[in-house]
Amino acid sequence: MPFVNIKKQYIALGMLFFVVLFFFNNKPALQCQLSTEVATYLPTIYGITPTYARLAQKADLTRLSQTLMLVKNFHWIVIEDSTTKTKLVENLLKESTLKYTHLNVKTKTSEHSSASGVEQRNLALDWLRGHLKKSEDTKGVVYFMDDDNTYSLRVFEEMRKIDKVGVWPVGIVGGMRVEMPVVKDGKVIKFNAVWKPFRPFPIDMAGFAINATLFLEQPKAMFSRKVQSGFQESEILKYFAATKDDLEPLAENCTKVFVWHTRTQKPSITNPKNLKHTPMPDHHIEV
Ligand SMILES: *[C@@H]1O[C@H](CO)[C@@H](O)[C@H](O)[C@H]1NC(C)=O
Ligand SMILES: *[C@@H]1O[C@H](CO)[C@@H](O)[C@H](O)[C@H]1NC(C)=O
Repeated sequence: MPFVNIKKQYIALGMLFFVVLFFFNNKPALQCQLSTEVATYLPTIYGITPTYARLAQKADLTRLSQTLMLVKNFHWIVIEDSTTKTKLVENLLKESTLKYTHLNVKTKTSEHSSASGVEQRNLALDWLRGHLKKSEDTKGVVYFMDDDNTYSLRVFEEMRKIDKVGVWPVGIVGGMRVEMPVVKDGKVIKFNAVWKPFRPFPIDMAGFAINATLFLEQPKAMFSRKVQSGFQESEILKYFAATKDDLEPLAENCTKVFVWHTRTQKPSITNPKNLKHTPMPDHHIEV
């Protein structure tokens, strides 16, 4: 029937019209998106996180990894304090969608226990140097992250501004509400720390980040087993900052807290022998 044929043509024309409209409407948006991606180059943040097996490990790593999934251009280096890589950490990393490197090294138990994370962080720095040497883009920032701290996304925005070493306040640490560099006229003039204030740099590991390129210029920069507790930060910083004048105060001249040194409480689990009913068959469930 001719009547039906005309209708079909109208429908086809109408559809073509909408397709053309859609295409022209989207084109400028598409171009805009592409150009902003090129314009906003973000240096990679290398987060170095030592971790060890314990009951709350998966909970802590889940919380942290899901924060990190919101950070652009982030590379997570996770180092297990273990003779082998565990399935728990391996699976968690695989399922995270994060860009990551999974390493492991067992802490020598005969030595000082207070310097935890030394071997793990040093292994990560070795890996990083090897990685940067063979990559085209050596720009980046190194941040030492505990697996149970709390990180605002804003701390990552701040550290991308770093030229050499950036510093900022850390909440709930060292017996204080906030431990921080004191800033005057845009320069660090002192620190407010009360715990071991005689440290060269009395700041927490979460309170600074370092330009990654500089680790190539300082091949010996690493943590040491020989220093007393609380001095690891000063130990690594001494390679990159001669004095407090070399520190770049971030987080609005160190007036904002974007990271907290939270600690996960050690869980207390009832001994199965003390349970009146038959213990639940839960031993095969990963927690
Ligand atoms: C780090 O230092 C290098 C070399 O001095 C420099 O090119 C780069 O812009 C600095 N910042 C970052 C975030 O890489
Ligand atoms: C930090 O302080 C300096 C000197 O007072 C000032 O010029 C600068 O704008 C401040 N920066 C921020 C981010 O508030």
